[in-house]
Amino acid sequence: MLFAATLSLLALPNVWAQSSVADAYVASESPLARAGMLANIGPSGSQSLGAFPGIVIASPSTVNPDYLFTWTRDSAVAFSAIVNQFALGIDTTTRGEIDDYVASQVIVQQIPNPSGDLASGGLGEPKFNINETAFTGPWGRPQRDGPALRSIALITWANFLLSESNTSYVTDTLWPIIENDLNYVAANWNESTFDLWEELNSSSFFTTAVQHRVLHQGVSLATALGQPESLVSNYETQANFVLCFLQTYWNTAGHITANTGGGRSGIDANTVLASIHTFDAAAGCDALTFQPCSDLALLNLHTYVDAFRSLYEINSGFASNEAVLTGRYPEDVYMGGNPWYLTTLAVAEQLYDSLIVWNSQKSLEVTSTSLAFFQIFDSSIAAGTYASSSSQFTSLTGAIKTFSDGFVAAVANHTPANGGLAEQISNTNGTPVSAVDLTWSFAAALTTFDARKGVVPASWGAKGLSLSCAGEPIPQTVFCDFQRRCYYYFWAYVYPLFLAICRLMLFGARIENIYLTGSVDALEDWSTETALLMSSANYPIWSITVTLPANTDIQYKYINIDGSALTWESDPNNEFTTPASGTFVTHDTWR
Ligand SMILES: *[C@@H]1O[C@H](CO)[C@@H](O)[C@H](O)[C@H]1NC(C)=O
Ligand SMILES: *[C@@H]1O[C@H](CO)[C@@H](O)[C@H](O)[C@H]1NC(C)=O
Ligand SMILES: *[C@@H]1O[C@H](CO)[C@@H](O)[C@H](O)[C@H]1NC(C)=O
Ligand SMILES: *[C@@H]1O[C@H](CO)[C@@H](O)[C@H](O)[C@H]1NC(C)=O
Repeated sequence: MLFAATLSLLALPNVWAQSSVADAYVASESPLARAGMLANIGPSGSQSLGAFPGIVIASPSTVNPDYLFTWTRDSAVAFSAIVNQFALGIDTTTRGEIDDYVASQVIVQQIPNPSGDLASGGLGEPKFNINETAFTGPWGRPQRDGPALRSIALITWANFLLSESNTSYVTDTLWPIIENDLNYVAANWNESTFDLWEELNSSSFFTTAVQHRVLHQGVSLATALGQPESLVSNYETQANFVLCFLQTYWNTAGHITANTGGGRSGIDANTVLASIHTFDAAAGCDALTFQPCSDLALLNLHTYVDAFRSLYEINSGFASNEAVLTGRYPEDVYMGGNPWYLTTLAVAEQLYDSLIVWNSQKSLEVTSTSLAFFQIFDSSIAAGTYASSSSQFTSLTGAIKTFSDGFVAAVANHTPANGGLAEQISNTNGTPVSAVDLTWSFAAALTTFDARKGVVPASWGAKGLSLSCAGEPIPQTVFCDFQRRCYYYFWAYVYPLFLAICRLMLFGARIENIYLTGSVDALEDWSTETALLMSSANYPIWSITVTLPANTDIQYKYINIDGSALTWESDPNNEFTTPASGTFVTHDTWR
């Protein structure tokens, strides 16, 4: 009797211990993670080592590994966190950094690189040098999540500025960057990509999930800014297809298949990260967008976490309802294959996001799919809906909070005293491994802590979506694919053919000669005799590359010369100001 009583007394403080470790860690690590992240942003971040203004370095580490580059993905993840905190009034001291980031991305988008230039796929380039030049070494490219994540961050910023009636900045400065990214996503979501870990070239759940989110957001923003209906409806059409495609990643073995290629189990932090980067509290526990508390995402999380329990020596001795350190995917061998800070934190964040929704909707649903997850905490729980007044709701949410805090506590136990968060944690002795002060690790800490406090990020419109590739049960691959192909053929063949015929009728039945002339020497000073002949190699697109003086306002027009007939473009002149350095790409349509 006495022995049993003593045991239960011991057990209680143990459970509390996880949460009090997490409490203390959130308090001490928050300012350090914030400072660590800002230190990695140029030009004045203390660790940014010469990065240009607004350029985010992945880590100051220059050897083993060399991460002193700027990745579009990592930068966007950091700025999503910064912009969210700004828009929610949590930290409004970062306007200078945000403005610099925006200005830097205008330049980065224009850098020709091994993936192409702005018009030919260059937005899929994963990383650049920190002085805004192309990285030309071999790499896993393209990585198509970058433009989606960047435009998610910038749309959050745009929506905040619109709420402050700062419409001109959104229209003039933000929209052109966002539109480039949206057009890239709309045109390329159905092409293969390297995954977020830069290893597998196939289709990747994380990439598809963030692409869906941003196309959907693009519809609302383009509409709000009065963009052409054809643009809006293309984003809408593509978003619908992407949502259909997203469903096909579910694996009936109880998890999302992270990548369609690669021959791995498919169990991967990719999927947990996707759930937190597409969290929309207004969508409740909707499984269509794999919301954090959806039954699919919860079973996926359970499968994912359990894959690491016996994999790492450092995880031995923990019960099945206790948190452990998790890595990218069980087959990982990079640096020996270790747990990562940002993936372990992502587990906690997905669960905190879930608690936000359950507490706000005042109920929690256990389905036959999520049963295995909830049984971690109560082996006798049955499928059903539990209202917040029920004892099951109270005990399940309490146990899940403790479980989540355990992941934060696990990270806390492996954080050095200075609060630095590296990339990985040794799978044997728990010391930091690989790149130090990883920007993404710091960003992950901040977003996890915010979710733990119940901070709800702005909605992106995930509520009430339905599959227009039709009906149930998901996936409806066949119908979806059929529809997609129809559209594909329309846009790939029918529409260009139609355009070409129109142009031939307009200009006579021959390929016209289009010339360029303009206001500076390099553009022949408005001469029609010596105007520059443009290449029609990609007919019906004409192109030309010209070397222009820096920092100069340039006016120009295209002319069509057909024998003796000369047709000027209609007024006004085209105009732009050349940047101080680098390359600038512009696309015009004949007027
Ligand atoms: C930019 O940085 C790269 C990589 O450090 C270097 O090789 C290159 O010379 C730099 N370019 C300029 C214009 O400074
Ligand atoms: C709009 O936002 C931009 C970017 O932060 C800022 O530079 C500008 O001053 C703002 N304009 C107004 C009217 O608040
Ligand atoms: C393209 O979309 C179809 C239909 O959703 C899908 O079956 C196919 O796997 C996709 N391919 C890529 C590379 O995304
Ligand atoms: C990626 O996969 C696609 C489709 O299989 C292929 O066309 C492309 O060449 C691959 N890219 C690389 C860099 O291997």
